[in-house]
Amino acid sequence: MSKRVLSGIQPTHDSFHLGNYLGALTQWVELQSTHDAYYCIVDLHALTIEVDPALLRKRILASAAQLLAIGIDPKKSTLFIQSHVPAHNQLGWVFECITGFGEANRMTQFKDKSQKSGTDRTVVGLFTYPMLQAADILLYQPELVPVGEDQRQHIELTRDLAQRFNARFGDVFTVPGAHILKSTAKIMDLQEPTAKMSKSAASMAGVIELLDTPEANIKKIKSAVTDTGREVTFDEKEKPGISNLLSIFSAITGRTVKSIESDYAGKGYGDFKKDVAEVVTEALKPIRETALAYLKDESALLELLREGADRAEAVAGQTISTVYNSLGLLPRKK
Ligand code: TYM
Repeated sequence: MSKRVLSGIQPTHDSFHLGNYLGALTQWVELQSTHDAYYCIVDLHALTIEVDPALLRKRILASAAQLLAIGIDPKKSTLFIQSHVPAHNQLGWVFECITGFGEANRMTQFKDKSQKSGTDRTVVGLFTYPMLQAADILLYQPELVPVGEDQRQHIELTRDLAQRFNARFGDVFTVPGAHILKSTAKIMDLQEPTAKMSKSAASMAGVIELLDTPEANIKKIKSAVTDTGREVTFDEKEKPGISNLLSIFSAITGRTVKSIESDYAGKGYGDFKKDVAEVVTEALKPIRETALAYLKDESALLELLREGADRAEAVAGQTISTVYNSLGLLPRKK
């Protein structure tokens, strides 16, 4: 049996962005060929921001369509929706009961998000979010969790919880490792290249969306903020804008940054940005078209997700009964 991987993505916006794609999703596609892969649309996590039911429903479907369009193959991977497998909530609660308050309070994503909205508008679900994420992961006993850099701390907490549970209640969980690709771990906002590209950015001008039109994306890339100087060279400190575009170009074409730099020796930023715009939109065009085609047949999508949930539930159900048993919870008489 091949080793397992698991990862998840939130359906919080109309489209995934280039950071999601290069930081995580291309790894998902690659790993499904060598691993027993479980990929989850984490709809329950999306409830930690304000919910518009009609929009959420649409976004969950669009998430599934995009994952299929980038190449997640339901024959190779188990693709499912988190809320279809109740064991996620069951194990999430168990982890809430073995996580320290201070430990949860140290999560930087919680601190950032709660600071932005203020204590009165911060929901408790945002605080317990990482424990639900730990449950998403550990239910499937994966060895690897492919994610971007911003998830590193959550994976560390997941490892701590797995080890803590194992030490107290017996060896139940595989302790997983984060799988983070250095070159694309943190794709930056094109307008603000010192901040990560994010779905919750104040302005979408620096965020390349998978489902946006090629024209809109070309415009955003051509107007990306660049740095002083003229040479296209990689220098994250002095040239964060150009370095980000070089990382993107390199990730999409599979070429090394060095060889791209030498192509543009003596040329200006304008030529370079034009070519980045072209390679990015050429790569995204078929993804957009395929995703839109999947969205035309909602019932086929739902059927696919049902099959995924059945497979996921079989694994998750076993883990949660072992966990309950190890905790001393009495099984219901058959
Ligand atoms: P989410 O939905 O914000 O992002 C999905 C994936 O995209 C990566 N990512 C990036 N990578 C590089 N550069 C960026 N600018 C960038 N922005 C986002 C994220 O690191 C992530 O891998 N908490 C998770 C969702 C989650 C999860 C899980 C992940 C819930 N349960 C279990 C893994 C395993 C999140 O909010 O990701």
